[in-house]
Amino acid sequence: MYLQHFQLSEPPFTLTPDTGFFFNQGSHQEALNVLLVALHNGEGFIKVTGEVGTGKTLLCRQLLNLLQAHAVTAYLPNPFLNPTGLRMALAGELRIEFARNIGQHRLLQLIYERLAQYSAEGRRVVLVVDEAQTIPDDSLEALRLLTNLETEKRKLLQVVLFAQPELDRRLQREEFRQLRQRVAFSYQLRPLDAGALERYVRHRLSIAGYRGADLYDRRAMRCLYRASGGVPRLVNLLCHKSLMLAYGCNAKRVSRKHLLSAFRDTEAVRHPARRWVKSASTLLGTLALTGASLMMACSL
Ligand SMILES: Nc1ncnc2c1ncn2[C@@H]1O[C@H](COP(=O)(O)OP(=O)(O)OP(=O)(O)O)[C@@H](O)[C@H]1O
Ligand SMILES: [Mg+2]
Repeated sequence: MYLQHFQLSEPPFTLTPDTGFFFNQGSHQEALNVLLVALHNGEGFIKVTGEVGTGKTLLCRQLLNLLQAHAVTAYLPNPFLNPTGLRMALAGELRIEFARNIGQHRLLQLIYERLAQYSAEGRRVVLVVDEAQTIPDDSLEALRLLTNLETEKRKLLQVVLFAQPELDRRLQREEFRQLRQRVAFSYQLRPLDAGALERYVRHRLSIAGYRGADLYDRRAMRCLYRASGGVPRLVNLLCHKSLMLAYGCNAKRVSRKHLLSAFRDTEAVRHPARRWVKSASTLLGTLALTGASLMMACSL
């Protein structure tokens, strides 16, 4: 790969949400601040929505890291669960021991007891749910009921939902009016603007050990912004491919022609309207470069 060529100690633009690369600026910083303030104020329901690839899972992990020292956290990365499954998953996260065939009433009682115990110890409990747009309707209602558990002074359970915008559209339905009213804070993640995009690229390169002059020239940056719309996952994909192309051409800097070839080679960017399916085969397909684009990038 290109690591040695650009003197990098690790790949700078992987697709895994690694908190070591967290870029704490712009919309991501705002979102984190909103979350921390709302949690501190004891709000029951907080929601962060954002388009595919804008950084929700990374933000979710960053929040969990930050909360570790101050709160008990429970994390549901895949909440496509029926109400029973959801309560069981929460109980598991709270380290409650229970028999598989436990009745729902008893399970709720155990959850309440554990939450009350944490509250008596002065510890808040935060349930963080990623991919919340996949929660079935009846489980959303079950979640709302869980946040009903409270002492006279405060909620026993605070819930943070990270979701794609579909969730907002669903919550507009009449049957969710109660839940809608409970969401005290919501935040909508935005893609990076042109300035933030430039800093984002520099930031990731520097975490990956790059110490040289700017790797991307001005025209390449402008092209990157136009092609990705500032969506971090698309930025990572295009940066990774353009670095491969520049390396393949033995160039020390990434130019617009490398970016254009990377763009042509990337289905997810050329057809943003088609929802990008994150299957392993798609990821491999989008990360691989075709020989033709490599030849084009060097010959343009
Ligand atoms: N603030 C940020 N700092 C550093 N990298 C980021 C940031 N935001 C997003 N990324 C990177 O962008 C990529 C996509 O982020 P992530 O997987 O969190 O998106 P998502 O919103 O959860 O997407 P999906 O809707 O498909 O679940 C990851 O590689 C992640 O590391
Ligand atoms: Mg995600």
